[in-house]
Amino acid sequence: MSQQSESFKKLVSHCKEYGFIYQSSEVYDGLAAVYDYGPNGVELKNNIKSYWWTAMTQMHENIVGIDSAIFMHPKVWKASGHVDAFNDPMVDNKQSNKRYRADQLIEGYCEKIEAKSKKDVAKAKKKFGDDFDEEQFRTTNQRIIDRTAKQADILGRMNNHLRDQDMEALKALIEELEIADPESGSKEWTDVRQFNLMFSTQLGNIAGGESKLYLRPETAQGIFVNFLNVQKTSRQKIPFGIAQIGKAFRNEIVARQFIFRMREFEQMEMQFFIKPGTQKEWFDYWKKARLDWHKGLGTDASKLRYHDHDNLAHYADAAVDIEFEFPFGFRELEGIHSRTDFDLKAHQELSGRKIQYFDPEINDSYVPYVLETSIGLDRMFLAIVSNALQEETVPDAEGKNSTRIVMKLPAPLAPVKCAILPLLKNKEELTSKAREVFDKLKLHFNCQYDEKDAIGRRYRRQDAVGTPYCVTIDFDSLEDNTVTIRDRDTLKQDRVSIDEVAAIVNDKVAMKSLFSIKETIS
Ligand code: GAP
Repeated sequence: MSQQSESFKKLVSHCKEYGFIYQSSEVYDGLAAVYDYGPNGVELKNNIKSYWWTAMTQMHENIVGIDSAIFMHPKVWKASGHVDAFNDPMVDNKQSNKRYRADQLIEGYCEKIEAKSKKDVAKAKKKFGDDFDEEQFRTTNQRIIDRTAKQADILGRMNNHLRDQDMEALKALIEELEIADPESGSKEWTDVRQFNLMFSTQLGNIAGGESKLYLRPETAQGIFVNFLNVQKTSRQKIPFGIAQIGKAFRNEIVARQFIFRMREFEQMEMQFFIKPGTQKEWFDYWKKARLDWHKGLGTDASKLRYHDHDNLAHYADAAVDIEFEFPFGFRELEGIHSRTDFDLKAHQELSGRKIQYFDPEINDSYVPYVLETSIGLDRMFLAIVSNALQEETVPDAEGKNSTRIVMKLPAPLAPVKCAILPLLKNKEELTSKAREVFDKLKLHFNCQYDEKDAIGRRYRRQDAVGTPYCVTIDFDSLEDNTVTIRDRDTLKQDRVSIDEVAAIVNDKVAMKSLFSIKETIS
């Protein structure tokens, strides 16, 4: 097993062991691509939501929030194009009976070509040392030039076939490249077919076609159909945005890689309504603003990158992804889409209601254009924990080297902000003083009281879930009202007055600190 997949396996089992994420319905052997969040997971998830919600609504006076229903009138999905065009190309292997997404098989083939080039780059880097210039090497090494051209040709052809919905050509491309089933090695494929990703269900007592309901595959449509309600009741003027966090459902053909691709997940979406013709300017604004939001968490810039879409969704005139380097490589984390007036116009036409904005500046009405930012909450969760989980060597109590597993979560996102630890469990004077401190601090932020096991083990437990501070109550605390406060990252222990603890912790865990980091980003 590669080092990468080994570390990913460790991450998945850490998430389970420390109450972040469990497989759904585990007692029945689980439900594929559906997960439950445990006590630490739900806290972390809520904190991520809060960081996003604050960045959108509190930091922008022209963005307001809504919480629309998951069930919507079925015509919503007809107008939005999801009934006709929300498809993935699916193909089965005849020997293994395994199902795949045709485009992912082709992309996987190209990734293998790229892996060969990366190997050549690594070899050359080793040979030339500090003088090595990767850009120059990639543009002059004939083997890499040929491979890059081959990849571009294959992906270009694939995107054309996807755009033209030409399933026969997709199958021919798989056969031409002699792509084999990763499981069985067989090259015997069925025809490629389109598969609609929406889940459907039935509404109580309504007869006919209108009884068929869909579980929403994106939260955005709840925003579009509420555009006029929100604009009028919040008295917003264009440009303004509507933000929403909520569940979305997709019957993914292949759902793997833990919470990266799920069948039930959460999205954090914002639709920014603008004057037609200004979409390029707002696309650039949100492209930068969203990358800054990610960098605000202190994420190493080399782990984030933009990826322009070659294959635009049916509603977009421009789109870019923010990709994150997950343990299995760079993948889409967030999408920024210029959705034109596609959705509002489609709802206007199908509903027969006028969905327009009267612009007092030009004394005229128009259907606004929309700039969308859309991020998967679960995918963001995965990015954060995979970035935070580290194994490091630190000195133990006797000064010897020992290994610790630590989640270096951004402090404002940590599930527990401060752990309160009496030095000994069976000394009533210590435990009651510790309880007193706990009761005081819990008014400020999420705290955990823990008296079980030796103090070193308790520190390790808190490190493993990313608690930024541990406060220990010892015999001196009874005399002089002081405690030791231990910093998760530096391991420094300071003696401070109990009255100072709330301010010290607050200073580090307040959401504000994430926004001040942002201000220093160029
Ligand atoms: N409203 C636009 C929209 O839904 P998308 O690119 O299909 O666009 C937006 O999805 C984001 O939702 C993605 O960038 C990803 O983070 C997340 N997402 C999409 N499908 C997902 C899935 N099956 N599991 C987890 N997250 C998903």
